[in-house]
Amino acid sequence: MFGLQSYTTLGRSGLMVSPICLGTMTFGNDRWGSSDEEAQQIFGSYFAAGGNFLDTADGYALGKSEEVLGRLINSAHLRDQVVLATKFTFNTGEGNPNTGGNGRKNIYRALEGSLKRLGTDYVDLYWLHAWDTVTPVEEVVRTLTELIRQGKIRHYGLSDVPAWYASRAVTLAECQGLEPPIALQLEYSLVERTIEREHIPAAAELGMAVCPWSPLASGFLAGKYSGDRKTIDGKSRLEILASGNNPVFEKFTDRNWKILRALQTVAKGLGRPPAQVALNWVVSQPGVTSTLIGARRPQQLEENLRALDFDLPLDVQQLLGETSQLDPATPYMFFEPLLQSRITGGVTVRKWH
Ligand SMILES: NC(=O)c1ccc[n+]([C@@H]2O[C@H](COP(=O)([O-])OP(=O)(O)OC[C@H]3O[C@@H](n4cnc5c(N)ncnc54)[C@H](OP(=O)(O)O)[C@@H]3O)[C@@H](O)[C@H]2O)c1
Repeated sequence: MFGLQSYTTLGRSGLMVSPICLGTMTFGNDRWGSSDEEAQQIFGSYFAAGGNFLDTADGYALGKSEEVLGRLINSAHLRDQVVLATKFTFNTGEGNPNTGGNGRKNIYRALEGSLKRLGTDYVDLYWLHAWDTVTPVEEVVRTLTELIRQGKIRHYGLSDVPAWYASRAVTLAECQGLEPPIALQLEYSLVERTIEREHIPAAAELGMAVCPWSPLASGFLAGKYSGDRKTIDGKSRLEILASGNNPVFEKFTDRNWKILRALQTVAKGLGRPPAQVALNWVVSQPGVTSTLIGARRPQQLEENLRALDFDLPLDVQQLLGETSQLDPATPYMFFEPLLQSRITGGVTVRKWH
């Protein structure tokens, strides 16, 4: 494996980031997050270990995550050293569709708010947080290009969008001399591998980085839950959000317990905590550029940063891969070796990347 200071370019850009990005969704969050003192320790440990990539959003803890992160960066005089990313899309009010979504009106409003809360005059990477299903992609690409040209953002990326939407954004930008998105941010872990079908190949083809979020499936893969033990201390995220009607946090399924059992077995054999093995698996998957990790407690971050200290043996990779593989689905089954061999006449053909 490689260390946190083994920087990589973020997609087809000159922005250089650590292979692990510190997600700060827990900062400023009184319900299932970190106290300000814990946030300070988490931030300090990540930076001391060589990390430079920080992720937040205007919607996290109603803007408090940005405020806490901005204070930490500015009081440590680290603005030039860090790659600071935030997001727009989610509505923080009620009854006004233009204080959310991906239209030009909201993007300008949201960015002004984020810059104030972060105490900075630019963000390095501005993420569209999720597809709003209505705004034309042309409006998004043109607005974000304007913001780059005004110096308010350096680059932009797309989170939680269909792969066709990202492809259209890049292609439009190329054809019209606009700025393309340089990265995708998507859920990816041993229990959520859907992006392997469309997004990872699209990103490789279009020069975009892939930044997985929730590599531990919101703590599910840390190994502290089991089919018989779904409560820990009453304070963990999956316990608190269990009945919140948000499918992102519904991790207690039969399929996921099976994958967790395999993870626990191989982790025991390796003498590593399951969280480190699960993170190592995500970080080392083909196409993954920089993985967003989260921590509620400083000890969790310390433990998880050691996920880069080792390589997963081939037999472990194979076992984890097989246990968590996606079910066959059309049309993807046509791209597998069995049906491809009927296209190539039985000859093996490899693509250049
Ligand atoms: N674009 C998007 O839509 C989107 C969505 C979600 C997240 N994100 C970004 O991705 C970042 C990471 O996501 P995530 O926080 O869901 O990542 P994650 O790594 O899957 O989950 C982190 C949580 O797992 C638990 N945990 C972590 N390490 C542990 C350990 N060693 N032992 C026991 N429990 C442990 C902690 O929660 P508990 O202690 O409460 O269990 C921690 O807050 C976020 O901060 C955010 O920046 C983006």
